[in-house]
Amino acid sequence: MHPYRMHTFRRVCLAFVTEHLHKLFVRLNSTGRRPPAPLGARILTSHDDIFQHNMWDHVQWTDEDKENARKKAEENSCVQIPLNEQGKFDVEACKYWNRFYETHQGKFFKNRKWLFNEFPELLPLGHESICGHESPSRNGGSGRETETGHNQSVDPSQQLKDENIAECHHLKDAVRVENQAAVQTTSFPGQHAAFRILEVGCGVGNSVFPIVESIKERDAFLYCCDFAPHAIQLVKGHPDYDQCVCHAFVCDISEETASFPFPPQSLDVILAVFVLSSIHPERMQGVVNRLSTYLKYGGIFLFRDYGRYDLSQLRFKKGRCLSENFYTRGDGTCVYFFSKDDVHTLFSNTGLEEIQNLEDRRLQVNRGKKVAMHRVWMQSKYQKVHLKTPPCPF
Ligand SMILES: C[S@@+](CC[C@H](N)C(=O)[O-])C[C@H]1O[C@@H](n2cnc3c(N)ncnc32)[C@H](O)[C@@H]1O
Repeated sequence: MHPYRMHTFRRVCLAFVTEHLHKLFVRLNSTGRRPPAPLGARILTSHDDIFQHNMWDHVQWTDEDKENARKKAEENSCVQIPLNEQGKFDVEACKYWNRFYETHQGKFFKNRKWLFNEFPELLPLGHESICGHESPSRNGGSGRETETGHNQSVDPSQQLKDENIAECHHLKDAVRVENQAAVQTTSFPGQHAAFRILEVGCGVGNSVFPIVESIKERDAFLYCCDFAPHAIQLVKGHPDYDQCVCHAFVCDISEETASFPFPPQSLDVILAVFVLSSIHPERMQGVVNRLSTYLKYGGIFLFRDYGRYDLSQLRFKKGRCLSENFYTRGDGTCVYFFSKDDVHTLFSNTGLEEIQNLEDRRLQVNRGKKVAMHRVWMQSKYQKVHLKTPPCPF
């Protein structure tokens, strides 16, 4: 083989192996492993201390806890609402949620204070990452920080890293051009922003306004939608609503024909907080597929929602169950309780790559009544990586 072709072949092989080892490392590092600080540091080490805090983090369930939870869920779902009575909860979902907001206005949900601790990806820091993992600034600085330029020729592994970095930069540039081309075809709100976020099912803006506050002056733009017109009306009427950085609109994301005020492949982040759980499980995959087409390559889907056997699932009385782990509340709104596998299937089926997928298990304590309750939330991050990985040379 010609020496140049040999060299190129070796580079492609090494780049392929290194990239896949890196992806494996990121995956091992991510699945189920908790980030060092964000999810809280109140660890219950002695049962005697239980009433010293309102909430304990990273709670391990005993086999007995698991068995009790499984039994409770089995009991409350042994009677399911007849199929011929179920249709209205799906078809009229928007009516039930709209009524919810007419009743509660903006007083039901609290502002999401944990938002930036758990999802620093919402802050536009020039994060674009094409190679299937978070940039160093967002993953605790595990990446190489500076180019020293020393002794590169005598360290083959360093040379390999540099070649890979060069390769990655090359890919990044190509993808940036591709991403930019996607937004130059039409004119749309937020077109000139360098960083675009979409929040789906935003309700009355409990995440919207903290985000608006943080992206001002940062060349970023937030879109937010909900299918309940009353919720969007409340968002638009809020004193902090600012059209220069935010565009709120009514949209049913479960509709196949849902249209959005931005082109495909134009978003850096999609945020779904306690929303997908409201949608019929049979429609969820379509929703995630559709939304993902609007992510740029390198863009990320951030998800937080109810987890399997959360207190709110176990509290359901018999007769509220629609199907396995899917219930309707007294006001007609619905809720699904996710397992880790559900979440992984949902996002990986659409071609996104896992960055994080964990169960946030906590113990919520009512110190007055001296009761402790298990809370379970899912927290996940999935990224749209570029298809142009080096071809497999083997
Ligand atoms: C539990 S609330 C969460 C609201 C908000 N994300 C928050 O964290 O405060 C669920 C929200 O999802 C919205 N929603 C449910 N199904 C939807 C759909 N198909 N399209 C758009 N919004 C939807 C509801 O109207 C409601 O505002």
